[in-house]
Amino acid sequence: MAEQDVIELLMAQHGQIRDLFDEVEQAPPDKVEAAFGRLTRMLSVHETAEEEIVHPYARRKLDNGQGVVADRLHEENRAKRLLLDLHNDGVDHPRFWERLAELRTAVQAHARGEERYEFTRLRAHTSTAERRAMGAAVRAAESLAPVRPHPGTESATKNLLLGTPLAVMDRARELIRKALGKV
Ligand SMILES: [Fe+2]
Ligand SMILES: [Fe+2]
Repeated sequence: MAEQDVIELLMAQHGQIRDLFDEVEQAPPDKVEAAFGRLTRMLSVHETAEEEIVHPYARRKLDNGQGVVADRLHEENRAKRLLLDLHNDGVDHPRFWERLAELRTAVQAHARGEERYEFTRLRAHTSTAERRAMGAAVRAAESLAPVRPHPGTESATKNLLLGTPLAVMDRARELIRKALGKV
């Protein structure tokens, strides 16, 4: 099934991330924080999944894999720093919108880089079974990043506790490593 394939799953998440940026940008003022919380969780889970699952594989399997992955990690780290700053300063910070736009540009350029230089080549160098096994590990962490709002469960406090990017990344890493049989 297409959605079990790691490349299909990650590309679908790229689409969801684009939609979540739209949602934050279009949200009425009282919904911005919740929408930004969903975006934060999705980005945290997505980038952790790539770091734990596909980048190590690409590094080993692709010609110049080291270089391709180093470039992606460089982009990823920049996006992560922007995300952490935005999260720490909160949605009421005077430069929130300006920096959100900066994050969006960085994240989208990064996603294009992955699709063009990493995913396409990875697909050519992996079997369906390998891609499905990697896909299952992405799925294992996906529950941490619900795309739709859950009415009544998204209080500001809960958002703060569950939505801390570093906490989500840690939890995602744990679930992924378990799924990959690494712990
Ligand atoms: Fe990435
Ligand atoms: Fe990505």
